[in-house]
Amino acid sequence: MGYESDKPWGGRFKEPLDKKAEAFGASIHFDRRLAQEDIKGSIAHCSMLVKKGILTSGEGEKIIEGLQEIKKEILDGKFIFDPSLEDIHMNIEKRLTEKIGPLGGKLHTGRSRNDQVALDMHLYVKKEAREIERSIILLQQVLLELAEKYLDIIFPGYTHLQRAQPILFSHHLMAYFWMLQRDRQRFVETYQRADMMPLGAGALSGTGFPIDREEVASSLDFGNLYENSMDAVSDRDFVLDFLYSSSLVMMHLSRLSEELVLWSTREFSFIELGDAFTTGSSMMPQKKNPDIPELARGKTGRVYGNLLALLVVLKGLPLAYNKDMQEDKEPLFDTVDTIKNVLSLFADMLRGMTLHKERIEESVKNDFSVATELADYLARRGIPFREAHAAVGHLVRRALESKKLLGDFSEQELNQAHPLLALPEARALASPYKAVEAKKCRGGTAPEMVREQLRRAKEILQKGSIS
Ligand code: ARG
Repeated sequence: MGYESDKPWGGRFKEPLDKKAEAFGASIHFDRRLAQEDIKGSIAHCSMLVKKGILTSGEGEKIIEGLQEIKKEILDGKFIFDPSLEDIHMNIEKRLTEKIGPLGGKLHTGRSRNDQVALDMHLYVKKEAREIERSIILLQQVLLELAEKYLDIIFPGYTHLQRAQPILFSHHLMAYFWMLQRDRQRFVETYQRADMMPLGAGALSGTGFPIDREEVASSLDFGNLYENSMDAVSDRDFVLDFLYSSSLVMMHLSRLSEELVLWSTREFSFIELGDAFTTGSSMMPQKKNPDIPELARGKTGRVYGNLLALLVVLKGLPLAYNKDMQEDKEPLFDTVDTIKNVLSLFADMLRGMTLHKERIEESVKNDFSVATELADYLARRGIPFREAHAAVGHLVRRALESKKLLGDFSEQELNQAHPLLALPEARALASPYKAVEAKKCRGGTAPEMVREQLRRAKEILQKGSIS
């Protein structure tokens, strides 16, 4: 056309873009991931332009046909992405004009890349939030299965990583179920927050064309639309919501990872992870390394980093669109990949884990974690709890000094610590099974309460996904 620049925006430029600047600004190598959302949005926009008489129906048909063909080319891997066309939006538009001629240029009527990219990101975040909610459910199902399978296993409960009180292993597992339940809810909220349609904001101020934003919103299944065009193109809160929700999932799985790593050490020997999810050492033939939980723990840092990266990018940006905002994509995509991988790996890995029941039982028995039960007993018999605590504490010290367990003391020795402790009913309490059974309050670890917990959890899962 006689212009010196070959860009879609090249009209006012005399010189072509510097090659290094072009490569620096290009996002096609990562935003091609938004291709399907971009086409979906363009079809909705085009249909609305036809409805409003801004394009003729003949024009609309040709444009939509062209877009459908491009969609197929991309799905078939035949589309050639050109970095000199910067991003996915211009790659698709260029291909459209190759296919249907200058008419392709009419698609962008009443639209800017600023509201276009915002729309793509909303569609993408909504889709992924939904998928992730489903992956979380699958992991919850595995935890529930395991909790049912191991309902009779008593396990040492820790605080400060010191044995504290016996619990049911199921109870421990179910703690993660409820964390994931909150994670699910967070993704549902993430979905709802992303459910806002930005198109029509134009570059920043709206558009003078008589468009119908409600029409576009409803055809793309959006529940709401932005009330302010400046906000519509500047907002990336919904991406941050997604990154934060993901960070919490990773934090939960990282805590579980740490436990799996610990439990599978020779020192603990509580569990063994399946061969399919562990690796050996190239030098030490005996090694079986818990790479997957270790790496999940490590990747938590990367997911946090993605959240922080975008927070920092957005900090201090003036309204409305700034090119900085292109930096929202890689952290998002990286987080999506990481969290989906980790969620699905964990579901399979946990299913294949074995428990060393004897070793767990031994560690619960050879222990003082029933001490609280004895102190509670004294307190129930009217002894001030502090006094009870001190009496049992002394007994523990004596036991440690004489290499005994609390159950090994004679009646006389117990009598010395506190006369009430020598009573048969008190001595019967010095059992981890009794300690667990006693925790009958709602949310406690008594078997009947854990069964109740499992029932509630099952009910929740039966309701299916929320988003
Ligand atoms: N690739 C850009 C991004 O991801 C699209 C929007 C560009 N808009 C612009 N005026 N340069 O943010």
